[in-house]
Amino acid sequence: MDNLALNLQVNNSIKSGVTRLTLTDFRNYQFLRINAELSPIVITGENGSGKTNILEAISFLTPGRGLRAARLADIRRITPALVSDEYAPTEISNTSWAVSSTIQKGGEEFEIGTAVEKSARETNENDIRSFERRIVKIDGSKISSQSELGKYISAVWLTPQMDRLFRGGSQPRRSFLDRLVYAFDVEHAKRTANFEHLYREWYQLLKNGSKDNHWLLPLEENMASLGVAIAAARREQIAKLNTFIEHEPDDVFPSVMLELDGLIEKMLDKMPAIEVEDFYKNRLKEQRKNVLFNENIDGVNRTDFKVYYRKKHMPAELCSTGEQKSLLVSIILAQTKSQTLHQGFAPVMLLDEVVAHLDDLKREALIEKIRDLKVQAWITSTNPELFASLKNSAMFFEVKNNKVE
Ligand SMILES: Nc1ncnc2c1ncn2[C@@H]1O[C@H](COP(=O)(O)OP(=O)(O)O)[C@@H](O)[C@H]1O
Ligand SMILES: [Mg+2]
Repeated sequence: MDNLALNLQVNNSIKSGVTRLTLTDFRNYQFLRINAELSPIVITGENGSGKTNILEAISFLTPGRGLRAARLADIRRITPALVSDEYAPTEISNTSWAVSSTIQKGGEEFEIGTAVEKSARETNENDIRSFERRIVKIDGSKISSQSELGKYISAVWLTPQMDRLFRGGSQPRRSFLDRLVYAFDVEHAKRTANFEHLYREWYQLLKNGSKDNHWLLPLEENMASLGVAIAAARREQIAKLNTFIEHEPDDVFPSVMLELDGLIEKMLDKMPAIEVEDFYKNRLKEQRKNVLFNENIDGVNRTDFKVYYRKKHMPAELCSTGEQKSLLVSIILAQTKSQTLHQGFAPVMLLDEVVAHLDDLKREALIEKIRDLKVQAWITSTNPELFASLKNSAMFFEVKNNKVE
């Protein structure tokens, strides 16, 4: 423990986080600027005032679709005129949204910005459709892959939607896991995005009745090699976190055990990666007909992420709501600490209404841990009194009338 504390302290001298955040036409904000310190930041305000929207904006400084997994089209600020009779859906408006920021990492500053760009794409001779794409700029230069962002900033988040993480379908759990992976392995974001792209292409060809090996085989080959890399990276991350939790159990939040339930991940227990690639490739070929019958296709796109309450030997989905929240806090804390240790900079923590299901003891423990970790944590709550113990070590903002005070 002492060693860990010491190491974390050393690494935390490499402070990191968002020191300036500017939103333009983002959700309910026409223009919002926040100058922040690398400390806990408590954002309070009534329901619907725009607290979560600020956290969502920060989450767009990392790869992916942000903490709401939103459609890009929903983010642009809707003005009253747009929802009135005058709204003309076919008209392509120039208004777009943007998030720009100054990021600090180890005393160095970087400008990171993201926005949507509209372009037109010809789908056939008569049909030109506009589509939106998120672009990212680092110090003024457009980058080709969002995964670049991981070198400057990373984020972990807990949101009220995640209260259902263990009970619903596997997709949100998979995304949660993949985000834990790409904090350590920036290539993972690219791999999962590429895999999804290939998968859609393959699926569409099959749905259209194609039997053409000339197209299908290379797709299957690429999916197999990306898929095995994805599975291997997930296994590595789970092993890393399990080892970390075993050696550095938290004194308040329950220890978890993490497990992967996926065909390809399991095959990697049994045979070398190169053989799993062949296996996966053949498996995809065998499953072509399943696409036509709308049956499930086995592979890394179906892998589930299992969490157990270690001491109780209880699967998370059977734990109480409060326990599930505590298990998530455990994972997030372990991820934050192990990332700080191994990578030399801490992720930004985005904690949306996180204390809602925690009892007083756990809430105070969490606050103390955040303070001790010296990370930048953006915390929302409708009730500032719950954070009284942070009075001298955090910034407090109130959101009101689409402004921050
Ligand atoms: N695209 C948008 N344009 C304008 N307002 C939006 C948009 N999307 C969401 N909102 C508004 O943002 C508010 C919700 O903000 P949110 O950050 O979730 O609030 P809370 O403070 O409860 O976390 C709602 O009032 C909603 O109407
Ligand atoms: Mg909210």
